Amino acid sequence: MAKQHKWGILAPGRIAAKFANGLKVLGNAELYAVGSRDAGRAKRFAEEHGFRKHYGSYEELVGDPDVDVIYIASPHSEHYEQTLLCLRNKKAVLCEKAFSLNSRETDEMIAEARRQDVFLMEALWPPFQPFYLKAHEIVRSGVLGDIINMHAWFSFIPPYDPVDRKFNISLGGGSLLDIGIYPVIDALSFLGVPDEVKADASFGQTRSEESIAAVLKYNSGKLATIYSSFRTNNGIGCDLFCEKGNLTVSRGRDMNQRVILDIHGKEKETFVFTPPALGYHWEAEEVMNCLDRQLKESPAVPLSFSAGLMLTLDRIRESAGIVFPGRD
Ligand SMILES: NC(=O)c1ccc[n+]([C@@H]2O[C@H](COP(=O)([O-])OP(=O)(O)OC[C@H]3O[C@@H](n4cnc5c(N)ncnc54)[C@H](OP(=O)(O)O)[C@@H]3O)[C@@H](O)[C@H]2O)c1
Repeated sequence: MAKQHKWGILAPGRIAAKFANGLKVLGNAELYAVGSRDAGRAKRFAEEHGFRKHYGSYEELVGDPDVDVIYIASPHSEHYEQTLLCLRNKKAVLCEKAFSLNSRETDEMIAEARRQDVFLMEALWPPFQPFYLKAHEIVRSGVLGDIINMHAWFSFIPPYDPVDRKFNISLGGGSLLDIGIYPVIDALSFLGVPDEVKADASFGQTRSEESIAAVLKYNSGKLATIYSSFRTNNGIGCDLFCEKGNLTVSRGRDMNQRVILDIHGKEKETFVFTPPALGYHWEAEEVMNCLDRQLKESPAVPLSFSAGLMLTLDRIRESAGIVFPGRD
């Protein structure tokens, strides 16, 4: 019989609720414990989602000897310290993106996981999505030839709230770490870590970045342009411009995922995917598969990918003048 993995949720906010719903569809995931800075919030979340235990501090959660794996769902600024806390208590960790505020912190998190010999994975959503898998399958098949250049984007307009993590620079606010990370993931997954980065940004009332455009350049001459913004609303996607045609990958507000294959001289082909749910359960499933196999990192989201991703985000921030005070 498959091992039941006892999950702990650290920081029961908005995404944690969606993730908990994802856990409910997995037969080998036990919704076990919740840890919040506020005991009442932990209790309410536990009761709403059917967790057995609830704690009014993160320390109590990681101190529970029965917790197998912890999902960290706090703002970006908190991930570094909380991941170290979990790893040092020998808890496997699935930590939300962005993994930390900078490369130094990400590298330390990875080093600590290796020192403690404990599983660590960044909760990246795309690698498990049907549109992403289909796009990579098409590129690997060679029908488009080599990718020459690409453009990737993500924008939406959140309600303005200066204390919300999206606009609060002390919590790692700005579009880049929240949504700009996705076009950067696209660039890295199709072309690898860039050799040169140029970027510029515009800033809002809280001095957090609200729009960013970046050019990632590779020694091969390939270019990837990246756009993210909290001021426009054009969903998420990327265009690959290739030797023999183009591939457009997008997800609209209706959640439908589209992959449009446009080979020069041929009829366009469109693949539409309508995932049954948001898909967070695929991340949890990957974690449990890895734990069952005694792996310390995921082959689908290796720690080297997270390190390259954070290095690229650092370079974009440096070029665009985005600073997280006290954390750079
Ligand atoms: N993968 C995805 O598709 C996806 C989607 C949305 C968000 N995310 C990521 O998930 C993470 C959380 O996002 P969210 O929108 O769920 O955040 P949120 O609702 O603003 O906050 C989540 C929780 O973090 C805890 N927290 C700990 N320290 C905090 C601090 N200093 N200030 C504020 N809250 C603090 C709070 O819980 P307690 O006080 O109860 O402990 C809060 O409820 C971010 O890293 C974000 O990028 C991922």
